[in-house]
Amino acid sequence: MRILITGGAGFIGSTIAEQCVSAGHDVTVYDNLTTGNRANVPATAGFIEGDIRDSDRLLKAFKGIDVVVHQAARVSVPDSIADPVGFWDVNVVGTRCVLESARRCQVRRVVLASTAAIYGPGSLDAAREEDAPRPASPYADNKLLNELDAAYYGQHLGVETICTRYFNVYGPRQRPDSPYAGVVSIMSAKLRLNEPLTIFGTGQQTRDFVYVEDVARTVLGFCEIRNAVHDVINIGTGEPTSLLALVDTLGRILDREPRLVHAGPRPGDVLHSVANVTRLAARTGAVPATPLDWGLSRTLDWIGGSVGQIAL
Ligand code: UD1
Repeated sequence: MRILITGGAGFIGSTIAEQCVSAGHDVTVYDNLTTGNRANVPATAGFIEGDIRDSDRLLKAFKGIDVVVHQAARVSVPDSIADPVGFWDVNVVGTRCVLESARRCQVRRVVLASTAAIYGPGSLDAAREEDAPRPASPYADNKLLNELDAAYYGQHLGVETICTRYFNVYGPRQRPDSPYAGVVSIMSAKLRLNEPLTIFGTGQQTRDFVYVEDVARTVLGFCEIRNAVHDVINIGTGEPTSLLALVDTLGRILDREPRLVHAGPRPGDVLHSVANVTRLAARTGAVPATPLDWGLSRTLDWIGGSVGQIAL
């Protein structure tokens, strides 16, 4: 199958690219390298440097492609509050360009990265796909609009669409060198460097941490399944972990006592987030199951190898 991955030089996209290559598919990565890294792209994959808002470039790139895996996006909740117009431009306009170019090039399917942030402030109950969305940040709002766009293209314009609502994806290649990076990469890098860890709020907030290779395997499965019209599916483990428990586990793996600094809660932060994985299990027959300890060890190994190049 010919698969094109937008954002395929980034953390999640490049892991998907690797697994698609291993499964024998013909892979092209499309990325503007703002946060992605060319070195992440598998050697046997094609590479096109381009922006997802550049329709002309997309139309050329999508010729002959069977499946587009759309991962390119700006992804930080606090960053989206600071720059709501910039986020709209990349995430909403960019995704519309991807869907419309896919339609015009007769791409059979688009698998789109969505987010658990759509569920909003959060309760301790596991979030189900049919729950009413309550986006609490421009980022979450952008992704909800992407899902609506995908539903329209899937149900009315003949492009099969599958939206994967990622919970908190972590693992190697998630860059820690930005205040907007994911918490696992930030905490892993700071612990490695023996720096204090900032906890926003009480630290009792929970997240469903899902290992990037499990996510990539699931997305590959959605490229390969036979039929789809439009679908929305949670990708998580179904297991909540508090921030304090996460930091404890990282400290235990490194045999180091974390030094914590408490700060006020972060604007737009969701208190609790955990996936109901019933639909995921029904569609794929499997739920991400990499143990957190194992995935965190791999992440710490990767951060350890990159720590010299990281400026926190
Ligand atoms: C993350 C993703 C988002 C995804 C969502 C799905 C990133 C950057 N964001 O958002 O794209 O859609 O999961 O659930 O990967 N925290 C600290 N100290 C820090 C950094 C973070 O206490 O130094 C806290 C935050 O306040 C938050 C939690 O850790 O409560 C997780 O933060 P973060 O990794 O940024 O993820 P989300 O906001 O959940």
